[in-house]
Amino acid sequence: MDGLDRWLSRSWAGAPQEYQWLLLQTLATAASRRAWIASWPGISGEFVLDLGCGPGVVAQEIAVLKSCRVIGYDIDANVLDLAQNINRLFDNQGRVKFRLGDILEDAGKQEATLALVRFVAQYVGDLDRFFLRVHEHIQPGGYLAIEDIDDGYLVEYPEPPQAWQHAVRAFQTHQNHAGDRYVGRKLAEAGTRAGLVLEDLTTNPSVYAGPMTADDLSVQFDIDRIGREVPAMIRQGLLTEQEWFEARSQYRATFPHFTYISTATVRLLFRVP
Ligand SMILES: C[S@@+](CC[C@H](N)C(=O)[O-])C[C@H]1O[C@@H](n2cnc3c(N)ncnc32)[C@H](O)[C@@H]1O
Repeated sequence: MDGLDRWLSRSWAGAPQEYQWLLLQTLATAASRRAWIASWPGISGEFVLDLGCGPGVVAQEIAVLKSCRVIGYDIDANVLDLAQNINRLFDNQGRVKFRLGDILEDAGKQEATLALVRFVAQYVGDLDRFFLRVHEHIQPGGYLAIEDIDDGYLVEYPEPPQAWQHAVRAFQTHQNHAGDRYVGRKLAEAGTRAGLVLEDLTTNPSVYAGPMTADDLSVQFDIDRIGREVPAMIRQGLLTEQEWFEARSQYRATFPHFTYISTATVRLLFRVP
């Protein structure tokens, strides 16, 4: 895993913009995620699917930690190119492979002993359809592991200025067209409704308390990811250009200060009866 960590710290900043934050998050949370993966039940002849695998870093971790074959599945051919490059770099082509496909459309063949779906459920919209489709990929007696976000765990102190909070709310409303920032809390109920048995549910907190400046990465990322969507938010009438400029400058002006910020992901393990 040291090689993977070295690659992540060297490469996240040069990755396509939409994957930089994911790769950095993947590096920052590596230890607890690997402990989680190692804790998954062992099943003989293990064959794991990583559905919506993205760059496939977690597929690499699973292959090593569970000594198994992994197939990463994703709808985006470009991200699978990146995943293939990483795979070649770590010489894992023998046990990690990738397939292009849509997990909401393609029928599964009950191939996998376990399927992981990490940071994908927030984008699917219809959780009933999601669970139905994902279920089809897993053998009876197998498992489904899910990790996703819930912004209810987001605490920032001191609170950012009202103008910034308004921009963040506009961004969340805008995101809801494509992404549900509160999906974490909904997964246990939706999965159980789909006939799965909930075996385990944990939250995985991540906390920073310390000095923060306007140049810090997390501040930059927040400004960038909202900034990129501003033209679309203006078109939707969620925010005006003036409000955005005001929000950004007021937010920047609060730094430097001592910050407490905590977030958490939700991790679930379901058994397929
Ligand atoms: C935020 S990334 C997470 C990637 C990876 N699971 C990880 O944790 O590093 C979400 C990924 O889900 C993929 N995705 C979204 N909807 C999908 C669908 N319907 N079928 C397959 N992949 C999908 C996207 O292309 C993207 O690569």
